[in-house]
Amino acid sequence: MDEGVRAMMESALTARDRVGVQDFVLLENYTSEAAFIENLRKRFKENLIYTYIGSVLVSVNPYKDLEIYNKNHMERYRGVNFYEVSPHIYAVADNSYRSMRTERKDQCILISGESGAGKTEASKKILQYYAITCPASEHVQTIKDRLLQSNPVLEAFGNAKTLRNDNSSRFGKYMDIQFDFKGAPVGGHIINYLLEKSRVVHQNHGERNFHIFYQLIEGGEEDLLRRLGLERNPQQYHYLVKGNCPKVSSINDRSDWKVVRKALTVIGFNDDEVEELLNIIASVLHLGNVQYGGEEGSACITSDTQIKYLARLLGVNGAVLTEALTHKKITAKGEELMSPLNMDQASSARDALSKAVYGRTFTWLVNKINFSLANKDESNKNYSVIGLLDIYGFEVFQNNSFEQFCINYCNEKLQQLFIELTLKSEQEEYEAEGITWEPVQYFNNKIICDLVEEKFKGIISILDEECLRPGDASDLTFLEKLEDTVGGHPHFVTHKLADGKTRKVMGRDEFRLQHYAGDVNYNVNGFLDKNNDLLFRNLKEVMCMSENNILTQCFDKEELSDKKRPETAATQFKTSLAKLMEILMSKEPSYVRCIKPNDSKQAGRFDEVLIRHQVKYLGLMENLRVRRAGFAYRRRYEVFLQRYKSLCPETWPNWHGKLSDGVSTLVKHLGYKPEEYKMGRSKIFIRFPKTLFATEDALETRKHGLATKLQAGWKGYSQKSKYQKLRGSAIAIQAWWRGILARRRAKRRRQAADTIRRYELFIKGFINRHKERCPENEYFLDYVRYSFLTNLRKNLPKNVLDKSWPTPPAALTEVGQLTVFMELHMEQKMIASEIFKDKKDNYPQSVSKLFLNTRLSKAGPDLSSFWAQYAVTVTKYDRKGYKARTRQLLLTANSAIIVEEGKLKQRIDYGALKGISVSSLSDGLFVLHVPSDDNKQKGDVILQSEHVIETLTKIAICADKINNINISQGSIQFTVGQGKEGVIDFTAGSELLVTKAKNGHLSVTAPRLNSR
Ligand SMILES: Nc1ncnc2c1ncn2[C@@H]1O[C@H](COP(=O)(O)OP(=O)(O)O)[C@@H](O)[C@H]1O
Ligand SMILES: [Mg+2]
Repeated sequence: MDEGVRAMMESALTARDRVGVQDFVLLENYTSEAAFIENLRKRFKENLIYTYIGSVLVSVNPYKDLEIYNKNHMERYRGVNFYEVSPHIYAVADNSYRSMRTERKDQCILISGESGAGKTEASKKILQYYAITCPASEHVQTIKDRLLQSNPVLEAFGNAKTLRNDNSSRFGKYMDIQFDFKGAPVGGHIINYLLEKSRVVHQNHGERNFHIFYQLIEGGEEDLLRRLGLERNPQQYHYLVKGNCPKVSSINDRSDWKVVRKALTVIGFNDDEVEELLNIIASVLHLGNVQYGGEEGSACITSDTQIKYLARLLGVNGAVLTEALTHKKITAKGEELMSPLNMDQASSARDALSKAVYGRTFTWLVNKINFSLANKDESNKNYSVIGLLDIYGFEVFQNNSFEQFCINYCNEKLQQLFIELTLKSEQEEYEAEGITWEPVQYFNNKIICDLVEEKFKGIISILDEECLRPGDASDLTFLEKLEDTVGGHPHFVTHKLADGKTRKVMGRDEFRLQHYAGDVNYNVNGFLDKNNDLLFRNLKEVMCMSENNILTQCFDKEELSDKKRPETAATQFKTSLAKLMEILMSKEPSYVRCIKPNDSKQAGRFDEVLIRHQVKYLGLMENLRVRRAGFAYRRRYEVFLQRYKSLCPETWPNWHGKLSDGVSTLVKHLGYKPEEYKMGRSKIFIRFPKTLFATEDALETRKHGLATKLQAGWKGYSQKSKYQKLRGSAIAIQAWWRGILARRRAKRRRQAADTIRRYELFIKGFINRHKERCPENEYFLDYVRYSFLTNLRKNLPKNVLDKSWPTPPAALTEVGQLTVFMELHMEQKMIASEIFKDKKDNYPQSVSKLFLNTRLSKAGPDLSSFWAQYAVTVTKYDRKGYKARTRQLLLTANSAIIVEEGKLKQRIDYGALKGISVSSLSDGLFVLHVPSDDNKQKGDVILQSEHVIETLTKIAICADKINNINISQGSIQFTVGQGKEGVIDFTAGSELLVTKAKNGHLSVTAPRLNSR
């Protein structure tokens, strides 16, 4: 929605309280005519000339130019919902246009109202709206131009100044505008109804003939006037002086002429056609000036000039025309005779010709325009239509004649249609929406329509019958016939049938019809003639001979040979109205009801009496009652919700459920009572206007609240976003800074942890500094070594005489200790070499191996209490069965001890050890010889050690028996105790095998390790 429309909505809403209601259905006191008129008055004073009754537009003629019809206004109403903007003729136009486009249904806009109420202006505004707002191509532009230009032409020929209206349409007009599927106007068609031909020959005082006559005389070029034989002075023409007002201040005939002349060209008239058309107009003026004279009973034409011009302008023979204008052809006894006319007869024959020529030319003109508007694009036949009906409104004069009878009958028919369509559509809507409909009482004017048009019994039938009846049929016999036939009808009265009171206001030659819009007395004078609309046959024949192309089309020769009586004017009118009703019925109607505020064409004057009358006969009160009978107000769910959703927290800002549920929630929140509204299928129906008003007012208040809130919201939002921006930056900086801090902290922690770990290692290392190198002390030992060595590098002795040497750290005293250890070790190795080198087979294998102080596993029993200098696991063979048993041999300071599972089994003092025997082979067996007389001993001890070289070296050293080791070849003898002897036989073999031989010896097979 653009800003303009929004502004309009706002202003329109606030304007409601100030200047009544925009829609009469919202009037609280809707049955009061006074309230109705008061609302109109209030709005009229504020130049608000438009008000709705539902979808019907009521328009009051402002009689001044209002600034509400420019292009901006058109734009404002384009595609906008009816109620969203203040009432306007453009809203009606746009609504119909959109309905046509969206529903693909033909539309019609019915404009009614009395003469001068603004119907023609309204229809022009609608046409302009379409011409400007609808899409257009080049071709469409031509059609638009022609549609627009058809107006000045038709108005020139069909409009006249009357007492009521300076530009009164004297014909009914229905215009179809055809739109293609894109919504562009591609063609048009006009149907005209009952031109008031009598105006050509006669005008009431203060009125004028059709505009074209004055325009031609005032505006026509000198050349043209000369050719037409016209003088530039309307006073010269009888047909133009009857009303005695050739000049009207509001009309500029000269400039209008230019407009019309140009419009004719736009519509497609070439110069010849224009000339022929103007010839006819001029000839009518000349006809009016034909003067009759002569004797009583046989008229003759007194001036030749007119005939000369007429003959030329009409393209007929002057003499034949003269005869036709003074004689009448009658057929008597099969013979055709020319009977002279008297003066009156001749005058009316002349006037009849003028009327016929003008009337038929007007019809031809409409056809010509239709041809020009016709959609010639064959591919584009599938168009939609919007029809515009600008037809004469209900008319009541002092003296009402046949024309008023026809016009008012037309209005009865339109009222009938209006009632039917309004009620019908209303009813259909309730039905479609599933709402129970309570029928409203209204006056159905069908009874009056029937009174006029019913076959055989209706007024038109009776009139036709009188027209056809041979003999002395006259207007008065027609009146009598009416009394006889429809005398009892409740809506029909004559002077004779009336009560005393009515009789006083009726003439004897009048009949009164009680129309839906009011009572009208019709004077029967002229009814028969006007209905017959007779043109003498000989005049017709002359016209059929015309060389004017337009007239040859208007007067068809076939008409002459047609023996059938032409249809009477009333019947023709009735037929055309029936067709019109059919056309309108097939379309979706919209109504524009025009009201004239005063009879003096003055701006700003609100004549209440006059307006009340119009309100009454336009049936506006009934319209309102029908509209209000059900529900004053209805709106589609989505539209209702969209407008008022801000009034309920559940529906604001958006409702996501079903639309009808949303509306239900909304109206319940608003406190609508069940009797105040009904939910249809797609619409909500609100019964009372005040309900809607309360809602509107709430919306108004809410809007202010919302505006403040929105403002506050916006302020808050902008502050908040500013704050959030700052906060965001702050957070970013903080995060970055924290990151740095955290990284720094992490680094410090890591460093600290490292330091602590190193510290820990250092401490641990310090504690374990005396242990062998192990994970606990390696860092410490490395560190100590490193610092000692770096220190040493700095403090090396300066010269060879300098014997100083830095004191090594504890860790490095190991090296010193090691040298002591190594010394001892090397000593033992030397002893082993002395004893075993080249004497025992497995000696060489022992050389590279370190001699250790203990060969026991840590897992074994704790033998520390023995204070052994050497410990080794050995296998002990007993002396009888040579059973092998695992024992530990410990060498203490004084003795060798044999231990079994931590328990001392045998102690051999070194002093008691006589000697040691061992084989020369690679086996590990050896014998400790002890004296056999020692009771403590049970004999020599046979042992086997994995580390035999080491073990024997240790024993030799400890027991000081280095020279007592006997390495024997072949076998060793040993004592078993009590003088018994045992033998161990050694043989070289492939693998070590210790068994008891059959001879009772212990047999040892030792692998050969070294080839000697
Ligand atoms: N909307 C309007 N704004 C200004 N003047 C208007 C408007 N409608 C009608 N008039 C004036 O009233 C006159 C009569 O209007 P018109 O449409 O010819 O009446 P109708 O066709 O109903 O007889 C117009 O010539 C014009 O001066
Ligand atoms: Mg009009």
